[in-house]
Amino acid sequence: MVVQAIHNAAHEFAAGFATDGFVSDVRAGLTRPGQKELPSKYLYDDVGSALFEVISHLPEYGLTRADERLLRRHAGDIVQRLDAPVAVAELGSGTGKKTRWILEALSRWQRTFYYPVEISRSALLMCQRELSDIDSISIVGFEREYLDGLREVAANRQRGQRLFVLFLGSTIGNFDRPAGVKFLADVRRVLKPGDSLLLGTDLEKPSAQLLKAYDDELGVTAAFNLNLLARINRELDADFDLGQFAHVAKINRSARSVEMHLQSARRQTVSIPAAGLRVAFLEGETIWTESSHKYSREEVFEMATNSGFCCQAQWIDEQWPFAESLFIAE
Ligand code: AVI
Repeated sequence: MVVQAIHNAAHEFAAGFATDGFVSDVRAGLTRPGQKELPSKYLYDDVGSALFEVISHLPEYGLTRADERLLRRHAGDIVQRLDAPVAVAELGSGTGKKTRWILEALSRWQRTFYYPVEISRSALLMCQRELSDIDSISIVGFEREYLDGLREVAANRQRGQRLFVLFLGSTIGNFDRPAGVKFLADVRRVLKPGDSLLLGTDLEKPSAQLLKAYDDELGVTAAFNLNLLARINRELDADFDLGQFAHVAKINRSARSVEMHLQSARRQTVSIPAAGLRVAFLEGETIWTESSHKYSREEVFEMATNSGFCCQAQWIDEQWPFAESLFIAE
């Protein structure tokens, strides 16, 4: 039997209404002295989540396929290293496609409770549809920010049950390095010794390859980035002229990251009535919308140690350098 439910925060996520958090983050990010910026989590409304799903199929963007290949090849080995019984919590499940391998491997020897935690309701629904055919699985989705959702899952764990947290797809790379370690330490604080975390991290690769991955020929990544302005128009009644902003991907060598920006084509002023704002842009000025940090294998071991885990095993994809690392909470 498959149990499916979604715990949602209806007051925050009612369709078409902007949250207070979105309004204040837009206000803070666009009135910041110096570099304007918007948090990358806002790229993922329904349109942005659908565009990201397309990005994951692009020939230039091998990250998602590498993640999936590793899970398909090594799911058996990964789950054998866990102490049973485990409940699985996934932070940012997306469509859930790549998680299938882990859940199927686990469900061969236990009834599996799977708790996807996602801010995108449409992704959560897609994930439930995608995985509901697996035998012996109960799926309960949490429409929440990662740590809030994880805390709820942990608070309701059954006696003797271990938690196995999945943080895949190199979403950790969208935090800067210190914030990434802090986030992992926050996750660790919710866990008990012996619980585990499977972390997906994209590894360093040549700049030319990265630039193509984040500025594809078809312009899907450009649409994904520009959708953030379209979202502000839709939800905050703003008047961004999307034709007057361009998607830019650039390498930040010192941060070892790829950055996405939206660059103003000319001097212009944009009104955002729901935030009580008028924002002036200079020609060439950018809004920084995302950073994707790239790691070395060794660095991932250090991140484990620095956040209260021990990295027990690591699997690498050679085709598109990417690491899947199993952390055990100490
Ligand atoms: C979700 N995240 C890991 C993706 C990345 O590669 O940083 C988001 C993305 N941005 C542009 N393309 C994909």
